[in-house]
Amino acid sequence: MNEDQLAQIHALPKVELHLHLEGGAPPDFIRRLAKEKSVDVSRVFNRDGGYAYKDFWHFLSVYEAATQVLTSPDDFARLVLAVLEQSAANGVIYTETFVSPDFCGGRDLGAWREYLAAMQEASEQAERDFGVTLRGIATCIRHFGPDKARETARCAAETCGDWLVGFGMAGDEKMGHAKDFDYAFDMAREAGLRLTSHAGEWGGAASVAETLRDLRPERIGHGVMAIDDLALVDKMAEEGTVLEVCPGSNVWLGVVPSWDTHPIQKLRDRGVKVTVSTDDPPFFHTTMNREYEMLARTFGWDISTLRDVTMTAAKSAFCSQNDREKLLKRLETK
Ligand code: ADE
Ligand code: ZN
Repeated sequence: MNEDQLAQIHALPKVELHLHLEGGAPPDFIRRLAKEKSVDVSRVFNRDGGYAYKDFWHFLSVYEAATQVLTSPDDFARLVLAVLEQSAANGVIYTETFVSPDFCGGRDLGAWREYLAAMQEASEQAERDFGVTLRGIATCIRHFGPDKARETARCAAETCGDWLVGFGMAGDEKMGHAKDFDYAFDMAREAGLRLTSHAGEWGGAASVAETLRDLRPERIGHGVMAIDDLALVDKMAEEGTVLEVCPGSNVWLGVVPSWDTHPIQKLRDRGVKVTVSTDDPPFFHTTMNREYEMLARTFGWDISTLRDVTMTAAKSAFCSQNDREKLLKRLETK
């Protein structure tokens, strides 16, 4: 790839649908906050100053340890600005982020409202300063169990609106079954929130099938293991299920052995709506520019293919129709 092609890829306007807010925290941001609060986070970092973990399950624990330093609405407001500055530097003009009442006030509705107001205000400032629009997806954490997921869903349902547009589930996919979380998802759906859930990152194709059947989300986070069941892939293509694919995350965590064996191309070829995201960019040493660049290098995706995937993401965003029209206009003119 020559410099010109690379510059063109970097200049593309991008839309990201799968980004964990705490997972987007630059290591320096967490270190600085820990120092201000005299919290020991030495186990979170390696000698090079990056996040240190040995596998996905250890990653979840390190992620939660890093999150311990975020203790106030103002911390989350600062985090929103730090994360969106990075997004904007990668050409992202619209992003949705997973935010969790579990980490924002321990699922207390009154506290959650304060955290939410602070994040929303910061996102308005980022829109003015960096030109990137943010919307939130309240997310329950699967390994915290179904009871906590219900409390999370209640916080989400009570605060559904223009900014908080979705409900989702992250965490350890191997814990329990999708069905255990149907009450939480039903509550969120009834409140008008749009739904997504992590599945098919670690739990195989069966976990994707279960999730689609029992939780009925419009989008699936990852979903890449569905490739082992082509009947399921065809069903997803037919029903228009959107996959939030995070190839760099999958390669880094060992979900797939390498970029060239990643199933994103096969899923797309078979008619599934695929979108591209970073998941937890500093944890997986990636950015949206890098994801797009690697897709071009690995699968020969040209500018028009990359634009097409971005358009799929814009059309699958959970924002209001009004916000979507503004976004589509911005994409058309860039
Ligand atoms: N939380 C943060 N990143 C995650 C991932 N990739 N899978 C599940 N839960 C997560
Ligand atoms: Zn994720």
